Amino acid sequence: MNITFILKDGTKKIVAFEGGQTMLQVAEENGIKLNSNCEGFGVCGGCHVKIENLLDKLPEVSEKENDTLDRVSGVSMDSRLACQIVLNSNLNGLIVKLI
Ligand code: FES
Repeated sequence: MNITFILKDGTKKIVAFEGGQTMLQVAEENGIKLNSNCEGFGVCGGCHVKIENLLDKLPEVSEKENDTLDRVSGVSMDSRLACQIVLNSNLNGLIVKLI
């Protein structure tokens, strides 16, 4: 299964993931830097990303994720926190944009 990260310079990086990994873990394992400052606890907002496809297949936004996104600038309907998304086979082919 794979996920495509669109980096800040527009470069696309396609990387493999296994079910159960978070999007943040997959990014970090592949040298893709997100501004995560809370070690994936969903409170810093630094792993804010925009989801380009499969939005309806993502797990629901939790109250904690929602609260954190409320404090992040530039949030839109396609905004999520990479540390809060646990990947599964439904998300194969996901495209995510770093901001
Ligand atoms: S790493 Fe801090 S909110 Fe995701």
